[in-house]
Amino acid sequence: MKRTLGTCYYPEHWPRDMWEEDARRMVEVGLTWVRIGEFAWSRLEPVPDQYQWDWLDQAIDVLGRAGLKIVLGTPTATPPRWMLDRHPDMLAVDVQGRPRKFGSRRHYCFSHQGYKQECARIVTALATRYGQNPFVAAWQTDNEYGCHDTTISYSDAARDGFQKWLAARCNGITSLNEAWGNIFWSMEYDDFDQIDVPNLTVTEPNPAHQLAFRRFSSDQVVAFNKAQAEIIRLHSDAPITHNYMGRITDFDHFAVGADLDIASWDSYPLGFLEDRVDTDDDRKRRFACQGDPDFQAFHHDLYRAVGRGRWWVMEQQPGPVNWAPHNPAPLPGMVRLWSWEAFAHGAEAVCYFRWRQVPFGQEQLHSGLLRPDSKDAIGIDEAREVAAEIALAPDVANRQAPVAILFDYDADFGWTVQPHGDGLSYFGLIFDTYRAMRSLGLSIDILPATTRDFSGYGVIAAPGMLFMPNDLKSALNAADAQVLLGPRSAARTGSMQITVPLPPDFPGLDVTVSAVESLRPDMPVNLKNGGTFQSYRECLEGSDEILEQTEAGDPVVMTNGRILYVGAWLNAVALQRVIKRACASAGVDTFELPDGVRIRDTGSERFWFNYNATTEKVGNLTLSAGAVIRQGMSG
Ligand code: GAL
Repeated sequence: MKRTLGTCYYPEHWPRDMWEEDARRMVEVGLTWVRIGEFAWSRLEPVPDQYQWDWLDQAIDVLGRAGLKIVLGTPTATPPRWMLDRHPDMLAVDVQGRPRKFGSRRHYCFSHQGYKQECARIVTALATRYGQNPFVAAWQTDNEYGCHDTTISYSDAARDGFQKWLAARCNGITSLNEAWGNIFWSMEYDDFDQIDVPNLTVTEPNPAHQLAFRRFSSDQVVAFNKAQAEIIRLHSDAPITHNYMGRITDFDHFAVGADLDIASWDSYPLGFLEDRVDTDDDRKRRFACQGDPDFQAFHHDLYRAVGRGRWWVMEQQPGPVNWAPHNPAPLPGMVRLWSWEAFAHGAEAVCYFRWRQVPFGQEQLHSGLLRPDSKDAIGIDEAREVAAEIALAPDVANRQAPVAILFDYDADFGWTVQPHGDGLSYFGLIFDTYRAMRSLGLSIDILPATTRDFSGYGVIAAPGMLFMPNDLKSALNAADAQVLLGPRSAARTGSMQITVPLPPDFPGLDVTVSAVESLRPDMPVNLKNGGTFQSYRECLEGSDEILEQTEAGDPVVMTNGRILYVGAWLNAVALQRVIKRACASAGVDTFELPDGVRIRDTGSERFWFNYNATTEKVGNLTLSAGAVIRQGMSG
């Protein structure tokens, strides 16, 4: 598959007489794809049931004739104002029970039947009209499910849906009461129709109740997306994608992805560093104009898995964004670096958001490839450079990485319901593990929790994976690999009870977590071999070998030779040492990279990236600030 570039364009924002010139310039820059339509419902159907296709017909024609391929978005993230007159109760309801108002976007509840019918109607109309259009080469469903905290809605529609969802999954109310442990505080129900959504309770709701509601909410997103994908497929053979986000974990992206052909995600490295990366201010200052050196790569690897190998960056920051606490311009070279990093991780396309900065609306301060006056903006030359480079580069060539991390959205739901300490999150633990592996020069595959075939991996990490079915334990145990578990792996039953026998209860491993505690993050505990753990620890019992212990002699990491159990939240130094050891046992080569320098191996090349604002030397390689170096590889 050839690597390609694209951009996100809003013809409805610009006078008709600008479109030709815009299309011509997109092609001149070297772009292949243009995504349009995803917020245009009020222009497609200004009056209920009266469609206006002329402008979109023309836009598609102009862009397509210029030589661009179109990704057509369904407009369901932005229902027009009249929709609320038809369905006043379609708004999502926040945890405080307040409906979220019209006046921005994503103002809908995933459970509202009436709104879902309206979506089916507009998607049917769109797919019928453009399904066979030769210029429409891909589809995008909706826009960024979950953005602005919109997965979970405490509406009446959600409550009704939740009751039915529970009734369909539980073998009667008695079994639900037992599974949830509702005898605690006399929370027992007599019937499913008594079960409310878990908000506005006097103190915290039952974690089992919350977990079930999160699973239900995730399923609503899956169903919402599936309905659109099925309609599109009736009319078009073009691949379907959805643009996921960075560090949004409140619905199961793998389950949504099962109904799509390609996964895509929206990458805003500078906004993410300020807003979504757990790191200190020194590091935020150091990487303020480059972004976190691991955050983009993590999501590239995640979405490669979600897309079963096929994935894109649908939106790539080309300059300053508008929405983070601070919005600097990227260091020269970073737009090119981010684009190449995506390709190195297997992206088929990278699309810059957006074509032209828009002088009105909420995103006036968001840069585009063009300035509001249509002159070139800062990022466009780097896009041109990448276009010229990919024209000469080999095709996308993925190959299996030597190490893997299991990523389980369900575990994330469990941790969110019961973090046990401020700042403890499943994503944070997984990301620390990923970062430690990358700092050792490793390329990594992320795998869904449903994986049972682990052949080819030397090391498999499943930290924090709260719910571990027995067949997963057996598959990991049977894998010819070093397996890293803990903390909190296999610690809960599927209905959020502590497992007895106590965790991890793993075949062949004589390690038991006898107690757990969460700690202030500023109370690190030193390890004998160097490094620390902080924020969370487990007391480990058992007869297996102790690999790491505290200065006081308490076991922290134990192993039976192949399965390692980590009973604490290790810092980078300690985690790196444990991973390095596991790699050595598995025969996987590692080497420590300077902070901010990262590599990624494809089937044919080794890529080097320097996220630092300074020149770095690794062996006899010199990497200037923001450098991308490609080395050919054999095998
Ligand atoms: C994304 C979104 C775009 C735009 C962009 C701004 O989250 O999909 O529509 O809002 O952010 O950075």
